Amino acid sequence: MSVVLEVRDLQRSFGAVIAAKDINVTVNEHEIIGIIGANGAGKTTFVNMVTGYLKPTSGQIEFAGRSVIGLPPREITRLGISRSFQVPQVFMSESVFDNLLMAYAIAEETGVGLLSPLYNDERAERVDSHLRRYQIAEYRNAMASTLPQGTRKLLDIAMAAVRKPTILMLDEPTSGISVEEKFGLMDIIMDALRVDDTTVLFIEHDMEIVERYVSRVLAFYQGEVICDAPTAEAMVDPGVREFVIGEEYHRTRTETGGSEHA
Ligand SMILES: Nc1ncnc2c1ncn2[C@@H]1O[C@H](COP(=O)(O)OP(=O)(O)OP(=O)(O)O)[C@@H](O)[C@H]1O
Ligand SMILES: [Mg+2]
Repeated sequence: MSVVLEVRDLQRSFGAVIAAKDINVTVNEHEIIGIIGANGAGKTTFVNMVTGYLKPTSGQIEFAGRSVIGLPPREITRLGISRSFQVPQVFMSESVFDNLLMAYAIAEETGVGLLSPLYNDERAERVDSHLRRYQIAEYRNAMASTLPQGTRKLLDIAMAAVRKPTILMLDEPTSGISVEEKFGLMDIIMDALRVDDTTVLFIEHDMEIVERYVSRVLAFYQGEVICDAPTAEAMVDPGVREFVIGEEYHRTRTETGGSEHA
């Protein structure tokens, strides 16, 4: 297994608030990692630092053997780390097809402007194939603003994945999605990403999703990683139970015999 991301002694404060403290994480290629933690624990701050949206106060981040500290997000994306945000970043007044066409044009670095038309037949074929992979082909000509929330999330993640990133970081891919829809949505996302063997780190509040899709958990509490362990181990870790999951979840699961989705 080769290391793709190495984070050393990462710190970040906002005035008196320490949003990241002594974070040390090594990520191997093809890992699927769940980032968990209560509101304000520092999960998004961590993702923001790795993807260049936020500069650490101190510490090191190495991707594929080179430091990415201080690089702008665009450059980090170009190197191979893409991300999605808590709120989908799609062009609301454009069609699903045109959203992806733009994402491909940007990724293929031909520029977006009058001098280089977005559309060409080869690119359109790539867009259509991507639409099928993310199972949103039936929405091809729908305007993004009219999409159901889950479909908009899929479009957003599909757009983040057009470059075939080495690492994809997803900030709460199932937020705002009904319990009934969550597993279907995650199945589509994870199946699509598996095709390219993408290393995935995603932030998630739903422990049933975490248990089903990830093999390793990073648990944050007050800016620190309090547990970095295989999922089954993390779920019974005393710190994780006290500060992240809450005892209620375990009681409910024990009483009902666990998840029907597991
Ligand atoms: N730009 C900012 N300015 C000031 N404080 C910030 C900023 N961004 C984050 N923080 C603070 O840093 C801490 C960690 O925030 P962060 O957004 O990383 O939490 P989170 O784990 O993603 O929470 P949530 O589950 O609510 O998304 C919080 O106390 C937050 O208020
Ligand atoms: Mg967050």
